[in-house]
Amino acid sequence: MERKNATREQVLLLLEQAGELSPALVRQVERQTGVPEAEIWGTARFYSLLSERSAALLLCRGLTCKLAGSRQLAAHLEQRGEPYRSVSCLGQCDRAPVALDQDLLVRHGRARGAVSPDDPDLPINLAGQDDASFAALHRARQLGPSAVLDTIEASGLQGRGGAGFPAHAKWRAVRAQASPLRHVVCNADEGEPGTFKDREIALRRPYRLIEGLAIAAWTVGAGTIHIFVRGEFPRVRAGLEQAIAAVGEALSGLDFRFVAGHGAYICGEETALIQAMEGRRGTPRIKPPFPTQVGLHGQPTLVHNVETLACLPSILLRGGEWFRAQGRTEPGSKLYCVTGHVHRPGVYELPLGVTLDDLVDQAGGYVGSPRAFCPGGASSGFLPMSMRDRPLDFQGLARIGSMLGSAGVVVMNDTVNMAQAALQQSIFFEDESCGQCAPCRIGTQVLRQALARFLAEGSPGALNGLDSVSWEMEQASLCGLGMVASRPYTSARRYFPGDFQPASSPEVS
Ligand SMILES: Cc1cc2nc3c(=O)[nH]c(=O)nc-3n(C[C@H](O)[C@H](O)[C@H](O)COP(=O)(O)O)c2cc1C
Ligand code: SF4
Repeated sequence: MERKNATREQVLLLLEQAGELSPALVRQVERQTGVPEAEIWGTARFYSLLSERSAALLLCRGLTCKLAGSRQLAAHLEQRGEPYRSVSCLGQCDRAPVALDQDLLVRHGRARGAVSPDDPDLPINLAGQDDASFAALHRARQLGPSAVLDTIEASGLQGRGGAGFPAHAKWRAVRAQASPLRHVVCNADEGEPGTFKDREIALRRPYRLIEGLAIAAWTVGAGTIHIFVRGEFPRVRAGLEQAIAAVGEALSGLDFRFVAGHGAYICGEETALIQAMEGRRGTPRIKPPFPTQVGLHGQPTLVHNVETLACLPSILLRGGEWFRAQGRTEPGSKLYCVTGHVHRPGVYELPLGVTLDDLVDQAGGYVGSPRAFCPGGASSGFLPMSMRDRPLDFQGLARIGSMLGSAGVVVMNDTVNMAQAALQQSIFFEDESCGQCAPCRIGTQVLRQALARFLAEGSPGALNGLDSVSWEMEQASLCGLGMVASRPYTSARRYFPGDFQPASSPEVS
């Protein structure tokens, strides 16, 4: 039983501040918070940055790092006697192949990727100067909540965190709740392999993001703003804290709080994120109720992605119609990340709905002969180059069973075997499944084992039954992770059947 004075929220913070996880530490946290020891163990074990602390480097084994030579980096570390531990993804795909040190700073990796173009007429314009005038917040206050909501609706702004849900609809839902206590949460957990745009916004445009948060909080009537930052991004958090401290007056009346992630991709899912903020295991909740109705501490909560929030100041200053006109097939500009076999990996702000070729033109062209691409990270599966002319947008990609997600585009050339690439992504999903529901927990394991067996033995019989396992995962999983975790396999098999024949081509190098 939890004691009356339990402050569950403090559990993760106390574990984070202490050293190695141990029975003594757990007992101490139990005494401090009143949360039972067994629950503290269960919570700590859920998060890799709390439970697997060691002096070893963290080496990324994600697809982009594999394409860029993580195997060679591993061999190099072994040769130098530097201990390392392989992890799913480190959010540094532009710097691939990457290893982080104990302080989560990049020890091995290339320079940060490109940010382009530099054009003051772009809604975010990562390559330009930040603006700390807070003129957009002032404008919002002049307009009043109702006109702000109409402006956001006119802009057609869709959430940039993955689902593409209309922003104004969530704001209206929060405003419609009776509770006077409301929250705004900035989702800066950015964990989709291939994506690192939110990191760049927070580092290069902290004031624009803070202003977006203040506009959202003011409009929906929330007094507290929570910024949930991916644990592997300590510099992002420090930069934002510094920027908020420097603002002063313009933010008066708003309470900013930071929460650190602890190495669980699933915490990017909004209800898992709320669970983590409450000091629990990051297991997604069943929706409905949605966070707009029952969110943090049971109160109405507006959760937005960093990029969505960073679009708000320019929408307020230049108008909804102006923002809408920035897109090609859907409203607004979009920050596309591109990595893999391209010459200049980075973040490119382009009209929403550009094609792969448009994007890769910006990124210096293809390396080698392109064969396949992920339009939106691991969750989007793989598409063949015959689809290179399709708009990279939310609705068009959803219609063909893929997704734009957070627009982490990964390009693969003809040296890549797609069964091997599917295995790589399956390892990611198996590692990151929270284990709460059987279709995902068991399905991700079955997929990974079958693909590994097929690649080891070259026998397509190893893949028997995977279509029905995939179907079940898609239909019966509780959250978005399980629903899309079979996509790398199903799309690779559909578009690259030759790679699933007995004799398969070379591995991802
Ligand atoms: C498995 C999974 C991981 C997610 N990871 C993120 C993430 O890292 N960042 C993010 O903003 N949204 C992520 N989302 C989407 C969030 O649940 C939520 O839709 C989003 O934060 C809402 O913000 P938006 O309306 O601005 O898109 C994820 C969803 C799922 C299913
Ligand atoms: S689908 Fe996977 S990640 Fe989502 S709740 Fe179920 S087990 Fe957890």
